[in-house]
Amino acid sequence: MENLAEAFLKLTDEDLVTLKGIEIGMRRYEWVPTTEISRISGLDPSKAEYRLDLLNGMGLVARETLHYLGYQIDFPAYDLLALDELVRRDAVICIGPKLGVGKESVVYEALGPEDLPLAVKFHREGRTSFKRVRRLREHLKGLPRFSWLYASALAARHEFQVMDKLYPQVSVPRPVAHSRHALVMERACGIELSRANIQNPEEAMGAVLDEVAKAYSLKVIHADLSEFNIFVSEGGVEIIDWPQAVSTDHPNAAELVERDVANVLRFFERKYKIKADLAQALSRIRREPLKEAA
Ligand SMILES: Nc1ncnc2c1ncn2[C@@H]1O[C@H](COP(=O)(O)OP(=O)(O)O)[C@@H](O)[C@H]1O
Ligand SMILES: [Mg+2]
Repeated sequence: MENLAEAFLKLTDEDLVTLKGIEIGMRRYEWVPTTEISRISGLDPSKAEYRLDLLNGMGLVARETLHYLGYQIDFPAYDLLALDELVRRDAVICIGPKLGVGKESVVYEALGPEDLPLAVKFHREGRTSFKRVRRLREHLKGLPRFSWLYASALAARHEFQVMDKLYPQVSVPRPVAHSRHALVMERACGIELSRANIQNPEEAMGAVLDEVAKAYSLKVIHADLSEFNIFVSEGGVEIIDWPQAVSTDHPNAAELVERDVANVLRFFERKYKIKADLAQALSRIRREPLKEAA
């Protein structure tokens, strides 16, 4: 399914209750029997079968013949269920084209009430290998599809909670709503630092480190900070992509904040030839006196 907006428009209410029936059924079954889908959705069996055939043709449900006929959904249908709920709640008024594809997400442009520019981020846990959730993924491997969807929903909820805690003290897009694995936030201004050619790199670097410090004072460490997760514009900087954020009480906190800051300094040094001292930057963020060099 290439176009989310197009697929969404095609869906009828019966399609949606059928997909929801499978979603609920997947808590108990890897492949949800037709009878169970019909029971949960309240559609009579022949109607449910008809919808399931159509949805299967659209690539929104997978079918498996066991000693019964079973169905399951994957991310494309999960995206549509989340979007449907967000639209019903008036968090999203219309969804547009893709804004970006990240390591663990697909992000779409959208509009909210009063044409508020939004970004809708659909989490995709368990698809690529990446260190932050490698442990979780190992744990998920071989588990039913449901666990991938569930892990993505947990990631979206965590990201929403972190951003909600940081906004507006820290410059992050305002979080608007979340449903399942989808997070709605305001669209960030400008472009990613990785793609920008900025005139005042020193000021931008200072602004990023200030945001890191403010987050730290709220006990939050980003833990995946890089030029790809920082937006720059005339108005300043915004930091995105918070699902892996940890508390400053985390056992690896020192290492994680150091890695974040080192990534930022390395980027500015490589691209803009700015030399900055890591220990000094870190001590300012942690509000600790600088340790004497041994
Ligand atoms: N609020 C936003 N406004 C504009 N673009 C965004 C926003 N959030 C994400 N994006 C775009 O989507 C991409 C992926 O989002 P990100 O949160 O970084 O997820 P990932 O963990 O997949 O890297 C970003 O690099 C960016 O291009
Ligand atoms: Mg990112």
